[in-house]
Amino acid sequence: MNSINERSVQPPSWLENLMFLERHANDGSPNRLSFVNGPSAGYSPRFGLPDFEVPLVTTPAAELEVYGDNRSNMASMCRTMNSIPIHPDSIGYYFADGREFSVRARVRAVPSASGRTLLVADDYVNSLWLKLSYPGVLGRFGSGLDRRKVQHSLAVCNILTAESIPHLAERSGLVMLGGAMPQLGCIFRDVAPSCVQGEIDSMVPLFSLLSRYADEKVDLWGFANIDRQDPKDTTAWLLDNLIFPLLESYWNVCVRTGLMPEMHAQNILLARQLGKVLIVYRDCQGFVGDPEYLRSTPMVQTISESRVFEERSRRYDDFMSQYVLMPLILRSALLGTVSVDQLLDSIRAATADLAPRNYFGPRQEWYEMPLEQPMYGRRIEYVRRTCKPPLR
Ligand SMILES: Nc1ncnc2c1ncn2[C@@H]1O[C@H](COP(=O)(O)OP(=O)(O)O)[C@@H](O)[C@H]1O
Ligand SMILES: [Mg+2]
Repeated sequence: MNSINERSVQPPSWLENLMFLERHANDGSPNRLSFVNGPSAGYSPRFGLPDFEVPLVTTPAAELEVYGDNRSNMASMCRTMNSIPIHPDSIGYYFADGREFSVRARVRAVPSASGRTLLVADDYVNSLWLKLSYPGVLGRFGSGLDRRKVQHSLAVCNILTAESIPHLAERSGLVMLGGAMPQLGCIFRDVAPSCVQGEIDSMVPLFSLLSRYADEKVDLWGFANIDRQDPKDTTAWLLDNLIFPLLESYWNVCVRTGLMPEMHAQNILLARQLGKVLIVYRDCQGFVGDPEYLRSTPMVQTISESRVFEERSRRYDDFMSQYVLMPLILRSALLGTVSVDQLLDSIRAATADLAPRNYFGPRQEWYEMPLEQPMYGRRIEYVRRTCKPPLR
């Protein structure tokens, strides 16, 4: 695996398609920051090289902490070499003070839309996504991976697995201590979804269905097999195949696992299996524990009781509504044959039905994440909206 230039095998066709969409069928987040704060040009998913080398670095003082079930080739290579993969953009950050480091090996990788999560492209049979520390700002935040985030992600993955929620499993991770900054970690993420019975036919990121640049085969209409001129009931198709499955999955996860997902179009994948659509989560780090519903809490970062209504609202009224449901509605409205009012009414009725009573607390207000980057280590103050929440 060490600096192999010839790839051992071709990726399965659904993975090849997914990788194309990650890079070419993404208009970015509605917060408009995805292409403002991203990796440097050569490593950008949108503008960068087809693939690039990721160094495995170590320092004389480094100690590698290994978490989870590390049986992959990549993990054992890191363990043997006492080294950790590091994003090429981050080397200057971690070693700016001239500290000594060595590169023990390199792997070739292809970026996903997130910019810091990369597919190891040397060996597709044993392939993995590497989620890397990226202390520079990506989108809204700096994205260091410290021990707490690695442990949280693995604990979330265990809960999703135990509750049979389809997701890309994060079973193991590394943190390098002593040698560099305290936030130098890495998570290994599976490529095929867990908690899905049998083979999938395809899997696409939700953002690709919203993209204006995707071609007919990959955008919403191609995915739905909807011909733009076709007068058949596209409202019913959207509700039955995308909107209700998203809502059912969201409320099921919130109530059954006690974890609140981070619903935005980069964290949600849609798998197809024999014509059926399955909601697949990625990015275990984005989930947070709800103190009322989470049964066992060790390692899972959990919201304090005093902020729980705020966080529940932010997760549903901001992320789920503004980053997933509204963009889907606006995108489908372009078709001209969809009843927007029916979509809105159906979403509000489904949420009234699926959300537990008093889930959002006594007040009719809602909370949004501010666009500015928070000061490092500071609590994020949400923006409070006093109008009626748009989708409940
Ligand atoms: N369409 C999109 N919607 C939301 N975020 C996006 C989108 N496209 C790219 N991103 C970027 O994805 C990043 C979030 O992913 P991150 O949590 O870093 O990795 P991963 O999801 O692989 O664990 C953000 O920096 C954000 O800017
Ligand atoms: Mg993400």
